[in-house]
Amino acid sequence: MRALVVYDSVYGNTEEIAKAIGGAISGGEVRVLRAGEVGPPELENISLLVVGAPTQGGRATPAIKDFLERVTKAEINGLDVAAFDTRYSAKAAKIFGYAAGKIASSLKKKGAHLIVDPEGFFVEGVQGPLKEGELERAAAWGKGLSPE
Ligand SMILES: Cc1cc2nc3c(=O)[nH]c(=O)nc-3n(C[C@H](O)[C@H](O)[C@H](O)COP(=O)(O)O)c2cc1C
Repeated sequence: MRALVVYDSVYGNTEEIAKAIGGAISGGEVRVLRAGEVGPPELENISLLVVGAPTQGGRATPAIKDFLERVTKAEINGLDVAAFDTRYSAKAAKIFGYAAGKIASSLKKKGAHLIVDPEGFFVEGVQGPLKEGELERAAAWGKGLSPE
């Protein structure tokens, strides 16, 4: 099994979560790359794609939106995928939603197969750090994405 975790991160929190998820996926080769580093060669022969972004204004950051636009139906049709974001828990943020659900919808529109519900991990304020226990929760979530 080859898995790819694609992320963007402004202050480093989503990067930490992405690495914790990637480190916990077992059963094969796992790469964890920033969205800007991912092109068609990196997507070749993968059987799991995980995409995560910081939530900004209720959405994913531009680098992830760009990745989601660039990725083609031919590349991800039928592929197992999962989506996550980081976010703060401010009540106002709930009105605009979060990045993970939007990432998942975008992947599904191109025929990908969402294997778990989109997940969010919490930071303290805008710059972080991550809330206590979130790295462990990310690792547990990553473990759950591993093939049986
Ligand atoms: C311009 C901006 C807009 C943001 N908007 C939201 C938001 O709508 N909802 C939310 O929960 N967090 C929001 N945040 C907090 C980010 O989610 C937080 O900065 C991010 O999780 C940190 O991850 P990073 O260190 O990987 O950049 C916003 C942050 C910035 C800088």
